[in-house]
Amino acid sequence: MATQPLVDPELLQRKTSWQPYFAAKLGFRDHWYVACFSHELGEGAVVLRQIMGEGILLRRIDGAVYAIRDRCIHRGVRLSEKVECHTADTISCWYHGFTFRWATGDLCAVFGAPESTAIGKKKIETYPVSEAKGLVFVYIGEQGATPPPLAHDCPPNFLDDDNVVEGEARMVASNWRLGPEGGLDEIHRYLHRESPLLLNIQGSMPLGHTAMRGQFELIDGEDGPRGIIDRFKAEKMFFDAEIDGVTVAKGVNFGAAKRRAVYSSCWMPACLKVEGFPDDGVTLFEWYVPVDETTHRCFITFGKHCADAAGEAAFRREYHTRWLPLAIDGFLSQDIMARESSQHYYQNDRAWFEEGLIGEDFMLIEWRKLCSRRQRTVQSLDRLL
Ligand code: FES
Ligand SMILES: [Fe+2]
Repeated sequence: MATQPLVDPELLQRKTSWQPYFAAKLGFRDHWYVACFSHELGEGAVVLRQIMGEGILLRRIDGAVYAIRDRCIHRGVRLSEKVECHTADTISCWYHGFTFRWATGDLCAVFGAPESTAIGKKKIETYPVSEAKGLVFVYIGEQGATPPPLAHDCPPNFLDDDNVVEGEARMVASNWRLGPEGGLDEIHRYLHRESPLLLNIQGSMPLGHTAMRGQFELIDGEDGPRGIIDRFKAEKMFFDAEIDGVTVAKGVNFGAAKRRAVYSSCWMPACLKVEGFPDDGVTLFEWYVPVDETTHRCFITFGKHCADAAGEAAFRREYHTRWLPLAIDGFLSQDIMARESSQHYYQNDRAWFEEGLIGEDFMLIEWRKLCSRRQRTVQSLDRLL
C-alpha cells in the first residue's frame, strides 16, 4: 500500500523563501517541546503524549522525569496500550515482556525469553527531559545527541528565577503553524473587539494595528533563542470600522496610555511571547506543540516576576480568578476558534500558495523565513506512530 506523502510533492518543488516551513507540517525536530505540566506527573505516574506524530511515554521516578518512545523495539506495539511497570524504574511490554529501563532505555529482561542474548544489548529510544517553571520539556532529536540548552528554545526571560508561571493546555484542531501565525497577525484585533477582558483591564485595543514594513527585530544568532519581535514602533492604530464613511464597529479606546501589550514576538520552535498581556506586568507565553498534521496542543501560560512568596501567591490567585476566565476563555479562545476555522482551508497544501495575504501580513512571511533559515530538521512521515 502506497503511503500518502506528508505534503504534496509537486508543491514541495515550488520556489518560496520558506520551503522548509511549508514542508514542516509535523514541525521541526532537534528542538525542545513542552510535553505536559509538572503537576500532571505525580511520582510513579505515566503520561502518554503525541508530539510531532511520535508517541512518547513519560514517568516520574524519585522526582525526576524520564521519557521513552511508545513503540516496542520487538514487534512495534504501543506500550501505552497496557502500561506495565512491575518495578519503579522499568516498563515491560504487555506482548512478549521486553522490559526496558526508563532512564537509559536498556533492555534488561525478556519475560518470554529470559536467556535472550538481546538482553543488555538493545535499547528503546529515550528522550532528554528538562523540567522548568512547572512545565516538562522533551527534546526530540537524534538518539544520543547532546541537546542544546533548554534556554535556546524558550523565549527570553521565561526561565528567569523570579518568573512565576501559571497556565492551561488546550487541544486545538489545527496545524501547529496556524498558532504562531495567529499570534504574529497584526491586523486581527477586530476579532477581539468584544472580549470581556478589555473592559476588565480598561485596556485600549484598536481594530487594526499596523507595524510598518521593516520595523521588526530579528533575533537570529547561532546561540540562544531565535525569534521575531514587533515592538509596535512606527505603528498606526485604527479604532473605527467604516463602510462607505459609516462607522459600523469600534475598537475599545481608553486612550493611548491604556495600551497594555508592550510587544509581541514569536520564538522557535513555536512560542508566542506578548509582554504586557493580559495586563501590565504579566507576560503571555503560548506554546504550540504539534500533535499530528491537524492538531496541536496549546500550552497557554502567563508569567509574572514576583519578588517574594506573597507576590507569587497573589499572582497565582489572580490567574485562577481573573486571567483564566477573562484572558484564556474570554480572549485567547477567540484565537483558537480562528485557527480551527482556518484549518479547513490550510489542510489543503495548495492553500499555502493560494492564500490571500496582503502587504500588512508581512510578519507572517518573515516568521516563515526565519523558521526556514534556522530549522534543524523537518519532521518526516517515517517517524510517525
Ligand atoms: S512486541 Fe513488545 S515484547 Fe514483543
Ligand atoms: Fe489574538
